[in-house]
Amino acid sequence: MTESKTTGSQALGAMATLILAGVFAVGTAWAQSGHQETFPWMNTALTPDERANLVLKELTLDEKIILIHGQGSPFGGTNPNAYLSNGGDGFSLGIPRLGIPPLQMIGSAYGVRFSAVNGRYSTALPSNLASTASWDPEAACEYGALIGREERAQGFNMSLAGGVDLARELRNGRNFEYHGEDPILAGTIVGQRVRCEQAQHVIGELKHYAVNDQETGRNLADAILDKRAMRETDLLAFEIGNSIGQPGAVMCAYNAVNGDYACENKYLLTDVLKKAWNFQGFVLSDWGGTHSTVKASAAGLDMEQPGDDYYGAAMKKAVLGGTISATELDDHVRRILRTEFASGIIDFPIRKGVVDAESGLAISRHLAEQSIVLLKNAHNLLPLDRAKVRSIAIIGMHADEGMISGGGSAQVDPQGSFNSPVRQKDLHKDAVWFPTSPLKAIGAMAPGAQVRFDSGADPAAAAALAKESQVVIIFAYQWTHEAHDLPNLTLPDNQDELIEKVAAANPNTIVVLETGTAATMPWADRVSGILEAWYAGSKGADAVANIIFGEVNPSAKLPITFPVSEADLPHPILVGPSPEEGAPGANMRTGVARPTFKVHYDEGLKVGYKWFDAENKTVLFPFGFGLSYTTYNYSDLEVMPDSNPGGSVTTVSFQVKNTGSRAGVEIAEVYVSLPASAGEPPKRLVGWSRVALDPGETRKVKVTVDAKFLSVFDEATNGWKLIPGVYTFRVGSSSRDLALTTTMAVH
Ligand code: BGC
Repeated sequence: MTESKTTGSQALGAMATLILAGVFAVGTAWAQSGHQETFPWMNTALTPDERANLVLKELTLDEKIILIHGQGSPFGGTNPNAYLSNGGDGFSLGIPRLGIPPLQMIGSAYGVRFSAVNGRYSTALPSNLASTASWDPEAACEYGALIGREERAQGFNMSLAGGVDLARELRNGRNFEYHGEDPILAGTIVGQRVRCEQAQHVIGELKHYAVNDQETGRNLADAILDKRAMRETDLLAFEIGNSIGQPGAVMCAYNAVNGDYACENKYLLTDVLKKAWNFQGFVLSDWGGTHSTVKASAAGLDMEQPGDDYYGAAMKKAVLGGTISATELDDHVRRILRTEFASGIIDFPIRKGVVDAESGLAISRHLAEQSIVLLKNAHNLLPLDRAKVRSIAIIGMHADEGMISGGGSAQVDPQGSFNSPVRQKDLHKDAVWFPTSPLKAIGAMAPGAQVRFDSGADPAAAAALAKESQVVIIFAYQWTHEAHDLPNLTLPDNQDELIEKVAAANPNTIVVLETGTAATMPWADRVSGILEAWYAGSKGADAVANIIFGEVNPSAKLPITFPVSEADLPHPILVGPSPEEGAPGANMRTGVARPTFKVHYDEGLKVGYKWFDAENKTVLFPFGFGLSYTTYNYSDLEVMPDSNPGGSVTTVSFQVKNTGSRAGVEIAEVYVSLPASAGEPPKRLVGWSRVALDPGETRKVKVTVDAKFLSVFDEATNGWKLIPGVYTFRVGSSSRDLALTTTMAVH
């Protein structure tokens, strides 16, 4: 019996140390070029703070102002500095006379944006939600590192990504850019992504801070949520992401939170982010999310993007007039400079290079394989035996040519796509399909089989093909994108009817879902297999084929709950197209001084599975659920409090056995029910471990749990508190399959 490696999310302290070591390991590029002698702040032996302070002393007021705002939208702007832009989403000027570079910012949620426009190439990875389905911090690191490398190769030194608003609203159009419904899982995955992205010497980011949990009216909405609920849900995800990732930047959200716009919200920006979490980086506004000069500055907004409506001439006037102090301005500037030194973008200036497309594609395929969730496998229809299968029908729109991707400012250009070029599209209106062909990938895996295609446009024709085929694989899609929420979770374009008709013609039907969030599946009982492939990236079809034919044993688990129907969601009012959508400048609501409507998040602490548990609702597929081609058995649960006096780490140990005949990786999940007096939802995830097991193998698994993850946020003392009483630890394979339980008393 061997001891497994734990990938719980609790080793934050140790990680922070590692991160600091990485971030401060500055290079010699500048030293070699002679700048070290020229400028004392190029001395890499100094700390980022010391270096920033040295620069700060040299800056004129005008130069300080230059650093705290953007230069407008790089496309079509009239700014005379536009030629200095690298063609990203935005940029800020540097101070060339002092060796301070411009910031070249690029949207890069699941890959580097705008590559086609700029005549370059970038890899599309699976969506952020997909990457969370791997529950794998190491994979998240690989994800961030790849994006960081490609950002630099394309001439960018700052990433706009790291979305970690919780999937509190399953119809949110940006859930594919976020990391699911659990704060500990989401924070761990996004933190690892940012940590490894920044190790490539780019500034990484977390966004949209905070509670940007729906897109409908995002510039006009005021999210109402009490402090305890906020700290234990959405803010906990940011807190963990910040602790692990040490991001150089945090982007404040478009919406307001409890009355104040996020970008002028002192509680969020100063009290929590900068003070309670000791965030050392700078806060920049979402594009057009700045609403004032004096209030925003006092609240802690350090940089306006993409323009200078409030942080240009108006800021200078406010500083000269004394309504904003020189110290306050200096703090904004110091944070920006400090981040530039800490991230290495000054010591390792951008050098454009060629993206390693081949290795990018291999990584993208591997990450997709780890993120595809097997939801149903009746009679073990999967994996298909490539030697035996005689005929396969591939059904679904564009399933002969590509797989769909998430839209909006996260959109990555598909290289050589049949429905390219992206530049001719409205990213809020046109779906983009990556040229990764399910038909070809599946055909290649089963050369002896007859593989035929039907687009599904006519369900009767598709059903006729299904009837003649041994196996049917339907590729079903749900397109989601920024600035728009889904009206419901029904698959669009009558795909439910298509699936029903095809499954009626041939029960050996497997549905592969390409979705940005959860979908309802009225046909779930009538198909044999369901695979959730999310937005699977540049190599999605190969990854799906590898799973369908058993080259890869699926291991991913759901990072969100799939409900039976929208009627089970916390918010009865269906959201829909944003009232702002299509309005001129819908993205740039800079002039709006106050939010115009409130969104009451009354479910509070009960986000995701916590809601469905507390309300005793049956779900279609629970949080944490995912099948494998093998089976696992759990036993021998023990919980040990910290052996150090006053220590705060609880160790949970148990055994997992592979009881099937294939090697596999089981994500073993640990949940805790707090004492009733804590007033919490029935249970919360506190840790997990990915356990690799050969057939018949048993491993002892240890998961350590930090006291914070067992605590509640106490508004009265403004801190985390352990409630005395009995804690029940539950271990198993999903949030609704927890075979092992034991208790621990806290006095
Ligand atoms: C989005 C941000 C994005 C920015 C720049 C905004 O509309 O909300 O997530 O980083 O645009 O593209």
